[in-house]
Amino acid sequence: MKPIRVGLLGLGVVGGGTYAILERNREEIARRAGREIRVTMAAIRESDLAVAQKKTGGTITLIHDPMAVVNSPDVDIVAELMGGIHPAKELVLQAIAQGKHVVTANKALLALHGNEIFKAAHAKGVMVAFEAAVAGGIPIIKALREGLTANRIEWIAGIINGTSNFILTSMREHGASFEDALKQAQALGYAEADPTFDIEGIDAAHKLTIMAAIAFGIPMQFDRAYTEGISKLTSKDIQYAEEFGYRIKLLGITRRTARGIELRVHPTLIPAKRLIANVESVMNAILVKGDAVGATLYYGAGAGAEPTGSSVVADLVDITRMATSDPGNRVPHLAFQPDQMHDDVVLPVTEIETSYYLRMRAFDRPGVLAEVTRILADLGISIEAMLQREPEAGEERVDVIMLTHQTIERQIDQAIAKIEALDSISGPVTRIRLEPLGPA
Ligand code: HSE
Repeated sequence: MKPIRVGLLGLGVVGGGTYAILERNREEIARRAGREIRVTMAAIRESDLAVAQKKTGGTITLIHDPMAVVNSPDVDIVAELMGGIHPAKELVLQAIAQGKHVVTANKALLALHGNEIFKAAHAKGVMVAFEAAVAGGIPIIKALREGLTANRIEWIAGIINGTSNFILTSMREHGASFEDALKQAQALGYAEADPTFDIEGIDAAHKLTIMAAIAFGIPMQFDRAYTEGISKLTSKDIQYAEEFGYRIKLLGITRRTARGIELRVHPTLIPAKRLIANVESVMNAILVKGDAVGATLYYGAGAGAEPTGSSVVADLVDITRMATSDPGNRVPHLAFQPDQMHDDVVLPVTEIETSYYLRMRAFDRPGVLAEVTRILADLGISIEAMLQREPEAGEERVDVIMLTHQTIERQIDQAIAKIEALDSISGPVTRIRLEPLGPA
């Protein structure tokens, strides 16, 4: 059978990893796919020509115009591995218009424009595969869309940004400040020069948006996701959390509730004894709770050339196997049949229900705790645990930390406003959400 021909848009970290895997495992991949998968062309930046020639040994056509790769008659599958929204979106839509299958690692593109892209792909009967867009080498899309298809998914909670997990690990293990841990991540090449997407939870929210769509059969709704990063976390909160038996992780959480879908990324206290609490450094892990299977955990490298390339190649093999099948009988892009998607409401963050860690600085005098607990009690918020530090020498204020039982976020907002207004409380109250992530 003739080889299936792939055009790579981008031959950087992920494109290079993809090419290397296809070369190294060529024979075995062909045995799995049923025919050879051959990269015929790649679009690269002009400045990258020498590096690209070295990577590919002069065996493929290297050009600077990505649209020429998309339009080439020598390309059956377009692999978009350049990132960004423009021109990636135009290139993907043009590939679809040409009747070509697409593989993409571009989480931002799908989270923002996935609804339009999948609609176009469905109309044209082509596949758009995107395993590499979420958690690099972990086959989480496959697991959610196919492996867990029997289940009503109840919730997903994931460490889906390696850079911020590296920073949190460094803050916890070495007591580093956020700023120093970030500098270290940049020096090691984990964080981008502009690290905003990683540290402010935006990259994680892109990935979470995609997983929520597949888990619940809803459209991509990135604009409804609540996003809070790790840049304001202090080592102090990480240490206090440890004293209560918790770790702080940046989690992407999506949950189906009777009132709507929760879709949120934020630092979260999780019990230190959970497996996912022990996922350190740049590694990713995703917990998925299905009604039939219970809680399942997926762990691995969330970035990097060959881990992400592993997912790209898996998609290329899937497409090669299924390209000739009837489009109506393929695995649907977003797990649910396109006419069976629901538009369930995504809840604003004020309506989510969770537990909270509250840290406040209180003047060490009689009645202060009574005032705080009265505010919480009046709002129906129950305290689960409390810790008060001895005042340091010459200091009349002390740190008071409380863990609450579950409550609706708007109740906590009100409580915090009232506590901050007390004369006996100095400065703002720090609030971090807490999730038990139990198997039940
Ligand atoms: N920058 C991401 C991370 C990897 O740090 O996990 C690509 O999404």
